[in-house]
Amino acid sequence: MAMASRDQWSGRMGFIFAAAGSAIGLGNIWRFPYTAGESGGGAFVLLYLFFVAVIGIPVVLSELAIGRTTQRNPVGAFKALVPGSLWPYVGGLGVLTGFGILAFYAVIAGWTLSYLYGALTGVYGGVLDGEQSLALFTELISDPTMPIVLSGIFIVLTIIVVRGGVSKGIERVTKVLMPLLLVILVILAIRSVTLPGGVDGLVYLFKPDFSKITISVVMSALGQALFSLSLGMGAMITYGSYFPDKENLPSAGITVAFFDTAIAILAGLIIFPALFSVGVEPGAGPGLVFVVLPSIFGSLPAGQLFAIAFYALLAIAALTSTISLLEVVVSYFVDEKGWSRNKSAWVLGGLCFVLAVPSALASGASPMFTDFLGTGVDFLTLNNNIWGNYSLSIGAISLCIFVGYKWGVPNALASLEASGHKLPAPALFGFLVRYVCPAAVGAVLIYVIVTGNYF
Ligand code: PFF
Repeated sequence: MAMASRDQWSGRMGFIFAAAGSAIGLGNIWRFPYTAGESGGGAFVLLYLFFVAVIGIPVVLSELAIGRTTQRNPVGAFKALVPGSLWPYVGGLGVLTGFGILAFYAVIAGWTLSYLYGALTGVYGGVLDGEQSLALFTELISDPTMPIVLSGIFIVLTIIVVRGGVSKGIERVTKVLMPLLLVILVILAIRSVTLPGGVDGLVYLFKPDFSKITISVVMSALGQALFSLSLGMGAMITYGSYFPDKENLPSAGITVAFFDTAIAILAGLIIFPALFSVGVEPGAGPGLVFVVLPSIFGSLPAGQLFAIAFYALLAIAALTSTISLLEVVVSYFVDEKGWSRNKSAWVLGGLCFVLAVPSALASGASPMFTDFLGTGVDFLTLNNNIWGNYSLSIGAISLCIFVGYKWGVPNALASLEASGHKLPAPALFGFLVRYVCPAAVGAVLIYVIVTGNYF
């Protein structure tokens, strides 16, 4: 059976790079800046950091603990721990969420391929002002075929890696490329904060204006913390299931959370100073990064080279995340349904492509999906919200209730500390999992439902 030949990461660093590869992606560089921009800046960022600390870290550790102990996919993991119960449905929701996220994520990832091509052919390396950049972006996303083709290419790339098994491939790629991405981001951030007017961007990003906090902003910050860390749908259960026995899991998990958050902030340091400098609105929406970034490459020496490197790395960062999304779905069908890895990857990846089409048409090509069912919200944004905020939050609260009250914090700690490496502040972990996470996530979800402020 699949279990017998189950892969493992080569070691702690191998896991860190692969899990960081899953966590670091479009969520940091595309979703974080535009959501922060739509949500008023500093107050959102503060809330996001708060949720990473009090919800994100305990949930990362909980998922990894479940994965390490059971060595199963999210559904199989719950089945192994509490056979015959309803808990495996929490894993099932995770698998469904993997589909839901991949189906819109692949569309944005497809856009990065077009930008990479544009960088290679010199379109994005030269000097572009905000308006020219916006015109190029609008032309791309409202095209009736290009976004579909690009998301298809991206899904095929994902399928190819996942069908081959992830450990060696992902590890090898991420070990080299993630540090490179970090270097490029640091250089871009330095360029951006030194642009004329860039300081206003820093003020916007870091100075909280608490009057901007509404329940939708709180919900978005919670969703962003979970989305960015790849939590609430079992991706970290799956990645934790490949964790070697003798290695230090608590420190690996916390390291991943730290880097993921640092990279989101770094992306903010690139985008906000640049957008204030070129005069783009912070609330410009999902196109924000794509419109703003091309306007800073032109002002760098060797701008085209930077543009090429940046979009190549962004596409790769997106790929290491889509791999983990598809891997959750595939590992379920391989382990639980007995499908071959090859069949699962192609069939489920193919299904995701079909589901991606409406999102690919939702930015102008199809009026029906651009204003979905007259809601005023496009289909892509709707999916981003439903799967990326609500579903992950429901997953996270269920997981904390499971660890806190069903499986038990002592079991989770035993799994985390199985190699003899201790979790710092275990009592705090228990407190956050049992009380803070269910209360905070529960309160936010109930408040949203009662007030009807879904977006
Ligand atoms: N964390 C990824 C990002 O920030 O781009 C997105 C993601 C991947 C979310 C895997 C959830 C997941 F399971």
